[in-house]
Order: sequence, then C-alpha cells, then structure tokens
Amino acid sequence: MKAIRIDHFGGPEVMEVSEVEIPQLQPGEVLVKNMAVGVNPVDFKIREGQYPDVRQDKLPLTMGREVAGQVEAVGDGVSGFKVGDRVFAMIGADGGYAQFARVPAAHLAHVPSSLDWRHAAGVPLAAHTAWQALVEHGHLEQGQKVLIHGGSGGVGHFAVQFARVKGAQVYATASSEGLEFLKQMGVDRAIDYKHEKFEDICHDFDLVIDLIGGETQSRSWQVLGQGGRLVSTLEMPDAHHRQAAGKTGTRFTARPDGQELANIAGLIEAGEVRVIIEQTFELAEARQALDAVANHHVHGKVVLRIPQR
Ligand SMILES: NC(=O)c1ccc[n+]([C@@H]2O[C@H](COP(=O)([O-])OP(=O)(O)OC[C@H]3O[C@@H](n4cnc5c(N)ncnc54)[C@H](OP(=O)(O)O)[C@@H]3O)[C@@H](O)[C@H]2O)c1
Repeated sequence: MKAIRIDHFGGPEVMEVSEVEIPQLQPGEVLVKNMAVGVNPVDFKIREGQYPDVRQDKLPLTMGREVAGQVEAVGDGVSGFKVGDRVFAMIGADGGYAQFARVPAAHLAHVPSSLDWRHAAGVPLAAHTAWQALVEHGHLEQGQKVLIHGGSGGVGHFAVQFARVKGAQVYATASSEGLEFLKQMGVDRAIDYKHEKFEDICHDFDLVIDLIGGETQSRSWQVLGQGGRLVSTLEMPDAHHRQAAGKTGTRFTARPDGQELANIAGLIEAGEVRVIIEQTFELAEARQALDAVANHHVHGKVVLRIPQR
C-alpha cells in the first residue's frame, strides 16, 4: 500500500510516499481501508522530533493520527463492526497517512450518514480533544461561562459547538479574519485577540480552554472566578497560579474512545455540531497539507484524500 513514511525527523523533505506492507491484523482490531485522513498540529510536531512520545526508536513510522474509511477485515473477538461499515477513529502515533490502517475496535465508531469521507476524517482527534477538555477535565455545566482560546481552529471549532450544546455561555478568541467564523459556530461573543484584551471583557468565568499556551495561558487566570478551572492542551499551568485563589489548572493528552466518538457522531447526525474543512489535499501533497497546518491559522480542519489504487 502507499503510505507517507518518515525514517528520521526534520522538515518537509523527510516525508516520502513509500510502498509498504498492509498492516497485519491482531485480535481485537479492525483493518480500515482509508478514504480520507485528518491532518493535525501533532503530525508536524512528530515530524520535527518535538513530540515527547515519539523518539528516534519509534522510527520509521507512518504519519497521521485520525482516519475515516471502510472496514476491510475484522480481527478475532471483534463485535459491532463488519466488512463494508463506514468507520472513523483517532489512532496512535503510527499509521494514518496510508491506504490502510489497523485500529483497535474499542477506538472506532460508525461515521454519521450525513458526513462524506472528507468531513468524517476531520472529526476524531480534534473532537475527542474538545470533548475531553470541556467535559472530562473542565467539568463544564449548563449555564456556566467558558472562554475558548483558538476557537476557530480544528479543536476550537468543536469546543465552541460542544460548549453551546452543553448550555454554556461561550466566548472565544480568534483574529479579525476568524470572528465571522466563530459567530457561525454559535459563540455568544467573538474576541479579536489582536485588537482586544480578553481579560478586559471576561470576568468571573468558570472555565478557560487554552489551545494556544504561553502568555495567553498566563493572562487567562485573571478571567477566572473563585473555583474557576483552566484546561490546556499545551503546557502544564504553573503551580503558583494553580494554587492561587482557589483556582485549578491542568494539561492533558487526548485519548481515543469509540463510545465517546459514537456520542459525538450522534450530535453531528442530529445537526447540533458541524465539521468545517478548510482545505483538502491529495495524499501525495501531504507536505503542503502539513505546511498549511503548521502555520497555525487554519479555520476548521485540513484533510488528505486517499487514492483507492
Ligand atoms: N494535548 C493534546 O492531546 C492535544 C490534542 C489536540 C491538539 N493539541 C494542541 O492544541 C493546539 C490546538 O490544536 P488545533 O488542532 O485546534 O490547532 P489549529 O487548528 O492549528 O489552530 C489554529 C487556530 O488557532 C487560532 N490562533 C492562532 N493564534 C491564536 C491566538 N494567539 N489566540 C487565539 N487564537 C489563535 C487561529 O486563528 P486565526 O487564524 O484567526 O489567528 C486558528 O484558527 C495545538 O497546539 C495542538 O498541537 C493538543
């Protein structure tokens, strides 16, 4: 099969289209014939050697961490999936940008009938991250106020919509070019991070979702009220701020979960959540796709179409 492999870390030049063996199915796994796959900032970090879980001893590897496609074969002990089913999943650090991927059945869900392959491929990793940030780590409840930094990106556009589904009051930051996009996602207030100070606008918030890090994170403590929570996908909030004034902060790594993805699929099927794909590339254009994500100004998601022969 065709796959985008790297055998050492570096820039775009290390990404090669290679011919490799189709992965061998293990018990409890499903072989997925990929139709489209998502591109995420983590792919860039892995390629550059900046992702702590992927060191030289894990190379060579096939890039890509979320897939959408048809079930090609089902391993021993798998129930709930059969050949031909339309499925999607977040996968481990090896295997997405390829014609086939092995996926543990426990990480898979059926694709909503309303989504084509491109849109399905944009969901799993970003949507898991958004859901886990808000619900599992952020404990967001109806009527609470949440500020989402980077609300127009891959994770952010799901986070804004999930927070709205939860009945929260949703504020989010983006550049001037992203404000209209945020409004379409349903925010109560879109904040232009280049021309407005979010700490002048947000007071006594219950939750901040930090998808940006750095000084955006450190300034965010000011917007939280007593008992407020800061959840980051990037660096761990510092202990000084975490312990001050009864506020809490955490950083987490998203994980795959088929049941959670099925629940997210239900929200999409019900029309409560939309998937926005900003750009689509062919597998052979994976370098350009990763360049588009690496500049950190995507509105929605970037995906790759997978050739079927
Ligand atoms: N820990 C985990 O498990 C985990 C999981 C997923 C993602 N992540 C990390 O979380 C971050 C977000 O992921 P993502 O996929 O959503 O990234 P993304 O799609 O690349 O995010 C891009 C968005 O960020 C916005 N943005 C850039 N600078 C900003 C700023 N200073 N303030 C507010 N918004 C800003 C951009 O808006 P404009 O173009 O309008 O500027 C753009 O829409 C990435 O660093 C990623 O590596 C971690």
